[in-house]
Amino acid sequence: MRSQRKYTVVVAGCGKRGLHHAEAFQKNGRFEIVGLCDINPERLAGAAQQFGNPATSQDAGPLLRLTKPDVFCFCTLPSLRREMIRLGVEVGASLIAYEKPIALSTNEALEIMRLTREAGVKTVVSHQHRYGDHYQKVKQLIASGALGRVHTVYGTATGWMMHMMTHLIDYTRWFNDNAEAEWVVGQAAGKGKFSDNHPSPDYVAGIVQYSNGVRGLVECGEGAPDVPEVEAWWRKCRLGAQGTEGFAEVLTGGGWRAVARDSGGVISGPGNMDYAHDMPPYVQQIADWLDDPARVHPCNGENAYKGFEIMMAICRSVVQRGKVKLPLSAGEPELAALARALPD
Ligand SMILES: NC(=O)c1ccc[n+]([C@@H]2O[C@H](COP(=O)([O-])OP(=O)(O)OC[C@H]3O[C@@H](n4cnc5c(N)ncnc54)[C@H](O)[C@@H]3O)[C@@H](O)[C@H]2O)c1
Repeated sequence: MRSQRKYTVVVAGCGKRGLHHAEAFQKNGRFEIVGLCDINPERLAGAAQQFGNPATSQDAGPLLRLTKPDVFCFCTLPSLRREMIRLGVEVGASLIAYEKPIALSTNEALEIMRLTREAGVKTVVSHQHRYGDHYQKVKQLIASGALGRVHTVYGTATGWMMHMMTHLIDYTRWFNDNAEAEWVVGQAAGKGKFSDNHPSPDYVAGIVQYSNGVRGLVECGEGAPDVPEVEAWWRKCRLGAQGTEGFAEVLTGGGWRAVARDSGGVISGPGNMDYAHDMPPYVQQIADWLDDPARVHPCNGENAYKGFEIMMAICRSVVQRGKVKLPLSAGEPELAALARALPD
């Protein structure tokens, strides 16, 4: 019998994404927001008013110890991950939901995975664009076999690495049935974005060899291809698959298109990334996984780690040159090594 009890939730970080999450939890009906946290008192007060005045604090630790939620959701900037994970594990949360990227280095990501695996805490990472109807259509075309044998999956974005690259890798891995990556080769350029709150090289490109023989191509940042069909700059992302009998691709802000076996030419349809559309199923599948351990969330942390590992291997390849084999073990923090290796 599946339990239908409500799961309690604390949301930390009440900025753009924290509010998206809180809204989706509140509207779902299977969750009760019992605490909100932000270091910014105005944001915290505004969120508390919006979400039924639960307990609030500017410090996640005491709030978590007070409320002991089933779900700890944090939506802070990328510099704040390991400590939040540690707090969630310490108070015995069943599931931690957090934002991409999962960390800023392999060392930090390995520590996060160790903490959560040892404690048996489920994790979910917000690569939620996949719920878009246009993303689903491309996945469905690939899975139907209508492209023949898929040999290449690709993703580009004009946004920079720590914002966009794990999105690109996560969805193209999904198009390729989450095959393991064997090795990657990477190249990067430009140091302007290392001082950003999503620190990254200005441009980065990677080639991924997947264990099923499929080639992955991924590219983002300044100099990645424009997607002229899409006006919204952050949505200039093109992700797709090529097979022996056609191709299918999604533009984050511009629908999908394909040529497939028996399609009789180009077929296409609409679609635009929309948080209001994509967050409800993402949150519903959190309830599903908590209800039933067999219903593993598609955005589970193990998958997110695989994508993050590919991104970090690309960075290591820039520094070390040549092919970097996966899995990665601990090593020099990738961003510092990159910043040193790239010319001014
Ligand atoms: N999945 C997506 O589609 C998507 C889209 C945009 C952003 N993001 C990611 O979401 C994350 C957050 O981005 P955002 O745009 O919501 O940022 P934001 O700046 O709007 O919100 C971050 C909030 O965290 C708060 N904060 C900082 N330190 C804190 C602490 N110690 N405890 C509690 N709160 C703290 C800040 O005051 C701020 O309100 C980033 O990792 C970003 O990459 C994901």
